[in-house]
Amino acid sequence: MLSHPCSVLTHQTPPEADSQLQGKALVKGIIALMAKTSRALDPESKPDDRVDNALRPQKLMDIIGQDQVKENLSILIDAAKHRSEALDHVLFYGPPGLGKTTLAHVLGNEMGVNVKVTAGPAIERAGDLAAILTNLRAGDVLFIDEVHRLGRAVEEVLYPAMEDFALDIIIGKGPSAKSIRLKLPRFTVVGATTRLALVTAPLRARFGAVYRLDYYDIEAMKNIVSRAAIMLKVQADASGVEEVARRARGTPRIALRLLRRVRDFAQVRADGTITQNVAKEALDLLQVDPLGLDDVDRRVLKTIIEKYSGGPVGLNTIAASISEEQDTIMDVVEPYLLQLGFLDRTPQGRVATKSAYEHLGYQYTEEGQPRLL
Ligand SMILES: Nc1ncnc2c1ncn2[C@@H]1O[C@H](COP(=O)(O)OP(=O)(O)OP(=O)(O)O)[C@@H](O)[C@H]1O
Ligand SMILES: [Mg+2]
Repeated sequence: MLSHPCSVLTHQTPPEADSQLQGKALVKGIIALMAKTSRALDPESKPDDRVDNALRPQKLMDIIGQDQVKENLSILIDAAKHRSEALDHVLFYGPPGLGKTTLAHVLGNEMGVNVKVTAGPAIERAGDLAAILTNLRAGDVLFIDEVHRLGRAVEEVLYPAMEDFALDIIIGKGPSAKSIRLKLPRFTVVGATTRLALVTAPLRARFGAVYRLDYYDIEAMKNIVSRAAIMLKVQADASGVEEVARRARGTPRIALRLLRRVRDFAQVRADGTITQNVAKEALDLLQVDPLGLDDVDRRVLKTIIEKYSGGPVGLNTIAASISEEQDTIMDVVEPYLLQLGFLDRTPQGRVATKSAYEHLGYQYTEEGQPRLL
């Protein structure tokens, strides 16, 4: 098995070449890690995003954008309150950083109940889930992030819990084993996932409401940035706010992160106010282009165009060519490029579109051969 490239090389190369190669691999790894940690457009949560928690909208009316989801949720909440029942189980899916966790807390706040937070990979054994479930109170929200990563055995316990509010426990072993059914209070599971396709069909069927979160439009993004600027006490004019909003790829988490970086730039290189020019300069320095594409997005597109004549090319080939993880490309890079119309997904693989060629300054030809303008 090709477990690790270095371990394979050890058997085939002389010791000095081997150590050189290992050194190179180490340097490459460190560079990749640095690139990862410094990537301003990464929608995954990072430690310095913790301040964002203070900016999290608390009530449904504070949520900006996602109007359709908001309206559906308000009906769900009103109906549950009217019947004095727990909310139906809700599943949110969509790219990272769009507000799934925020909405789960908003549901808890609106219903006036506790929110217990956990995540698919954190619940290792069925017993862990049983312990969580038996500690819930009537109406409580159990938020399960990355719900597609729940183990099989854990899911089996979750099914009757969600459907019948019951926990089946087996006591003893062999022929004398007995199954007893514990009643649970009525509670609500709020699930979140970036990969709906990986949520098993039986689990998906147990969610009464499934909502897709989409990238925010520019108006919503402008509102999110200016609300955050006010809360962070940052001076920003309308065109500065718009510049940050436009380059944040429709993702609130990225908008908040870019706003902090632009604020730093404004304080150090200007008079502290975020104007359009200040925002432009700061974001150009971060290599975030006017459409919100960063280095990784551009490398994906350039690889398809330059190395594979515009495609079609498989995802794993692209990932290997640019030394990025397949998951990152699938969850983070692709959805946004698809949304911009820069990428097509075909059964044969990924294809770069004419707009992608134009945006990156390549001449588009029907045969797909790139020519730099
Ligand atoms: N509609 C919104 N209005 C204002 N701010 C928002 C909105 N949605 C999200 N945010 C902000 O964006 C940040 C990221 O949101 P959140 O953590 O809920 O994303 P997520 O979808 O759970 O991401 P992940 O998939 O990585 O867990 C939050 O800190 C919150 O302050
Ligand atoms: Mg989250």
